[in-house]
Amino acid sequence: MRHLMSPLDFTTEELDKLFDLAGDIERNPQKYAHACDGKILATCFYEPSTRTRLSFESAMTRLGGQVIGFSDAASSSASKGESVSDTIRVISCYADICAMRHPKEGAPMVAAERSGVPVINAGDGGHQHPTQTLTDLLTIRSMKGSLGGFTIGLCGDLKFGRTVHSLIHALVRYDNIRYIFISPEELRVPDYITDMLRSKGIPFQEVIRLEDVMPELDLLYMTRVQKERFFNEEDYVRLKDFYILDAAKLSKAREDMLVLHPLPRVNEISVEVDDDPRAAYFKQARYGVYVRMALILTLLELE
Ligand code: CP
Repeated sequence: MRHLMSPLDFTTEELDKLFDLAGDIERNPQKYAHACDGKILATCFYEPSTRTRLSFESAMTRLGGQVIGFSDAASSSASKGESVSDTIRVISCYADICAMRHPKEGAPMVAAERSGVPVINAGDGGHQHPTQTLTDLLTIRSMKGSLGGFTIGLCGDLKFGRTVHSLIHALVRYDNIRYIFISPEELRVPDYITDMLRSKGIPFQEVIRLEDVMPELDLLYMTRVQKERFFNEEDYVRLKDFYILDAAKLSKAREDMLVLHPLPRVNEISVEVDDDPRAAYFKQARYGVYVRMALILTLLELE
C-alpha cells in the first residue's frame, strides 16, 4: 500500500507517468468515468480548504466513486479528543482512500502509519502540500512544455508557505532551473531550503523588490501571506500587502511568462491581472482536478 506524504515519494519517472495519465484524463474524461465505481474517498479536513477538498471530491466523483468526510475538525470527534491515529483506523473501515489536511506538521504521516488504506497529505501545517505541487508541476509541464530550463521567481510568504517548500523540493530534481526568492526579510525562505540548494550547487538569489527581477522570469509563483501561521496580528497587517502584482508591474514581464498562484489570493494579485494571457492561476486550479484523478487511480492501483 502506498501513501503520498511528500512530492518526493514519487520518482521523476513515476511523476511523468502520473502527468501523462492526467493528460489522458483531460483529453478523454469518458474513458475514466467509471474507473472508481464502488470506491469511496474520505476527505478528513481539520483545516479550512476550498480547492484541495473540493477538487478531491470532484476528482473522485468524476471517476465514478463516492465521497464521505468532514470539512472542519469541530464537526468531527477530534473535538471530543479523538486522536488522528484512532480516526484513521476507523476511516479505514469506511473508505478505500483518504485525503487528510491538518494544521499540525506530520499528522498525515502519523495517520499513514496506522491506516489500512492509502493516505494523501492534503497539507500539513507549514510543512508540505504535495498535491498542490503535483498540480503546479502538471501546470508548468502542460503550459511550458517541460519541467526544466527556466527561471522561476517565488514571491510572498516564503517562510510559512507550504506550497513553496513542497514545490522547491520537487523542482530540484529537474535540470537548469534558477530560483529567485522574492520576499520581505521576515518572510524569507527557511534556511534548510537554501542550505539544501547550496549543497546541490543549485543557483538561487534572494531579493526584496519584485520589479527588479520581473524581466528575468519565465514563471512567477505568487503566494498569499499566511495569516493563520502568524503569532501576532500586527506583523501580519504590516506584511500582508507587501506585494501586489498589478498590470503596471506585469508590463515589465516577458510576453510568455506565466503567473501561477496556489490560491486563495487575498490582495497579492490585482483582479485586473486576471484577464492577462499570462495569468494561469485559474487554469492551474483545473489541472488540480486532473492530477488528483490520476493520483487516486495510481494509489488505488486502478491506472
Ligand atoms: N491551494 C490550496 O490549497 O487551496 P485551499 O486551501 O483552498 O485548499
